[in-house]
Amino acid sequence: MSKPISENDPIRKSTVTSYSSQGSKEYEDPLNKNFLYGDITVRFLEQISFQPDDTDILDLGCGTGFVFDELQSQFREQNMQGTGIEPAEGMLKIAIEKYENDKIFSFDMGSFEEIPLNDKSQDKIISTLALHWVKSLEIAATEMRRVLRDTGSLDILMIAKNDGAIFKKAIVNALRNHLTFAQIIDTAALVQRVTPEQVKTAFSPFDDCFKIEVQKFDDVVYGTFDEHMKWWKARSSPVIAEVKDKNHFMIDLREELEKIGTDRGIPFDTSYYWITAKAK
Ligand SMILES: C[S@@+](CC[C@H](N)C(=O)[O-])C[C@H]1O[C@@H](n2cnc3c(N)ncnc32)[C@H](O)[C@@H]1O
Repeated sequence: MSKPISENDPIRKSTVTSYSSQGSKEYEDPLNKNFLYGDITVRFLEQISFQPDDTDILDLGCGTGFVFDELQSQFREQNMQGTGIEPAEGMLKIAIEKYENDKIFSFDMGSFEEIPLNDKSQDKIISTLALHWVKSLEIAATEMRRVLRDTGSLDILMIAKNDGAIFKKAIVNALRNHLTFAQIIDTAALVQRVTPEQVKTAFSPFDDCFKIEVQKFDDVVYGTFDEHMKWWKARSSPVIAEVKDKNHFMIDLREELEKIGTDRGIPFDTSYYWITAKAK
């Protein structure tokens, strides 16, 4: 494992710490993996394609290894090597242990801001539901461009600007009893809320050799409170980390989410981007 995150790194330390200490415990739960974002990730991965000569594949913000879990048969068939990079030690440890005896996949500590790999060493970059946690999309894009070969490609699944607007309003209502106004604003500001045009501009370092496209997808997914909590706790641990009385917060959250409930269950209005870079 390479060096841990220092105070001066341009990475959001609080996000990484809370994924490490809380998110990793929840992450491998089948209800997280099969519902909502787990399901969206699986469908995204089913659609991405590899070139016949792709060899080195990079997964950024790999978490506990979800991308390789889903794509491993393709890696074996095409003789590809996968490298997973992840800044949260707790998540990384699970991925390393899972693939301990598998030579196809290796993992290292790092981030979008500091990828511990050589220039132009990767044929493809994949990333699922991690890029929205960066402080600066421009820094992340510059670093991704550095490690990607000029003939390579990129597929990134990222949360969009208005993702979960109705659901998150209920969360903010529940947070009112537990955090100050300033803290609520801070937690709301944790995630990037960029438009497709802003994503495209941030990816301008790719313009030399690549065509960048940003597609937006919207959907509503209904679930019970428990179904929603499994994915939300696994994927939003930086927000929950701020709350002191977590049991009381969960009671308030249930009450607020039940207020937006329908006959089909509690709705979550998803919105996400699929960013692609293809060599020109
Ligand atoms: C919602 S999880 C997604 C994990 C995995 N890609 C998946 O789909 O299961 C978000 C991940 O992004 C990681 N992350 C947060 N900030 C990051 C950064 N600056 N660079 C790379 N990864 C980051 C978190 O530690 C966490 O593992």
